[in-house]
Amino acid sequence: MLRAAMALRKFHVSDTPPALVDGDVAVSRRKAKAIIGGSIEMRRLHGTPTEVGGSFILDPIFRESDLQKLRTLVNPADPRPLVIEIGFQMGEFAAAFCQANPDVRYVGFEVRKKYCQEADALAVKNGIENATFCLVDAREMLRDVLTPGTLDQLLVFFPDPWWKPRHIKKRLLTADFVADAAHWLRPGGRLLLKTDVPGYADWAQGVMAADPHFEVERLTNPAAELPPTLRERRCRFHGYPTFAVAATRRGPVRAV
Ligand SMILES: C[S@@+](CC[C@H](N)C(=O)[O-])C[C@H]1O[C@@H](n2cnc3c(N)ncnc32)[C@H](O)[C@@H]1O
Repeated sequence: MLRAAMALRKFHVSDTPPALVDGDVAVSRRKAKAIIGGSIEMRRLHGTPTEVGGSFILDPIFRESDLQKLRTLVNPADPRPLVIEIGFQMGEFAAAFCQANPDVRYVGFEVRKKYCQEADALAVKNGIENATFCLVDAREMLRDVLTPGTLDQLLVFFPDPWWKPRHIKKRLLTADFVADAAHWLRPGGRLLLKTDVPGYADWAQGVMAADPHFEVERLTNPAAELPPTLRERRCRFHGYPTFAVAATRRGPVRAV
């Protein structure tokens, strides 16, 4: 009984981390340098390619053909809406979303090979045809392959909050990231964050609202429009609240 209670407590960390509340936009911009696994160029030069087989998995760092496939997939000439998810983990949202929206181009990014394989297996099992999973840190790769003003939705669901001050640099949602998102999204396109950490939701909303390209709002019923992620379902099961912040891109998109 006690062990079960402790497991729940471990799962639901709802305390507001001081660094998030205090961390203003300038701090996050300064420290948001860390790319998981090192920069893509350094990984290409010094990393060890791993075998990643799978119907929907791309390894755009180590396989040039996969990089080209990714470029083709995000090509703005393709009329299908482009939806990108960062950190899809087991791919539960991806499978449900792609099944419900067969006409979108879904591209997921994940830094863990194991999750790419899990998501791939789930997509195959569900007969999904419009999902692609990329084994790479999304931030640097998106800068490289996306055409400004062409992305319809950028989804970040339950990102790691990285509580400790020495880990701040690993946080995904920073002023730099939000500025990049403003660059990638088309006018009317949306950056959507879900989290179960109230302090993170408040902080992220502040970071998004500080960017003049976005109209920011809290969604009261995100479940009405999108299927839940694995973590979201777990939160619901345990009765924990979740939070959704949407930043809609105002037009027009600046040229580079
Ligand atoms: C807490 S989990 C996400 C849970 C999942 N989205 C859900 O709602 O059930 C965060 C995931 O993001 C991945 N991740 C973190 N930073 C990333 C990045 N820069 N690019 C791609 N994946 C990233 C991690 O490997 C991890 O699987």
